[in-house]
Amino acid sequence: MTLSLKSIGSWSVLSLMIMQFIPLNRINPPVVSDIQTPYAVKNSLKKACYDCHSNETVWRGIAYIAPISWMLSSTVSTGRNVVNFSIWNNEKRKLKQAEIIKVIAEGPRHRQFYYICNPEKQLDARERTMIMEWLNKPAHEQSPHIKNSGYNRQDKTL
Ligand code: HEC
Repeated sequence: MTLSLKSIGSWSVLSLMIMQFIPLNRINPPVVSDIQTPYAVKNSLKKACYDCHSNETVWRGIAYIAPISWMLSSTVSTGRNVVNFSIWNNEKRKLKQAEIIKVIAEGPRHRQFYYICNPEKQLDARERTMIMEWLNKPAHEQSPHIKNSGYNRQDKTL
C-alpha cells in the first residue's frame, strides 16, 4: 500500500489533534520561600530565569499547543528540579551559588533557544554585573536590609 500525500496529511492533522488531549503537568505549585534579594536583582531574575526556575512560570499561548507544550513543560520541570527560586533557602544558596554565577556569566548561551525566541528576556551587561555582585557578597549581606522601602519591597509582584 502506498500512502498518498493526502492521507499522510490527514493522519498528521489527526495525530496533532489527538496530541492536544494528552494531559500535561503545566501547573505552578505554590511559592514556598521565594529567594530574598533587593528589588532590582529580583526584577532581573524574574525576567530572565523565573520561567524555568520558579513556580511562577508564565505559560504563554504556545505553551498550550502540543508537541511544543511537551517540550516546554519538560524543560520547566528539569529546570525547577535543578534550581527553584520559589523554594529557596541558605542551604540551596551555598550549593548553587557557584553554578548560578557561571550561568549568569554565560549569558544567553544558557538555554539559547529560549532567549532567541524571547529576546526581551535577556539580561543586559549591567544586570549581569548587578546580579553577580550581589551573589558574590557574603551570605549575611545578601538579604535585603531595608525590607519595605519602595526599592526593596518583596511583596511587589511584577
Ligand atoms: C527556558 C528555560 C530556562 C531558563 C529561562 C533558564 N534556565 Fe537555567 N536551566 C534550565 C534547565 C532545563 C536546566 C537543567 C538542564 C541543563 O543544564 O541544561 C538548567 C540548569 C541551570 C543551572 C544548573 C547548572 C547548569 O548549567 O546546568 C543553573 C545554575 C541555572 N540553570 C541557572 C539559571 C539562571 C540564573 C537563569 C536566568 C539567567 C536561567 N537558568 C534561565 C532551564 C532554563
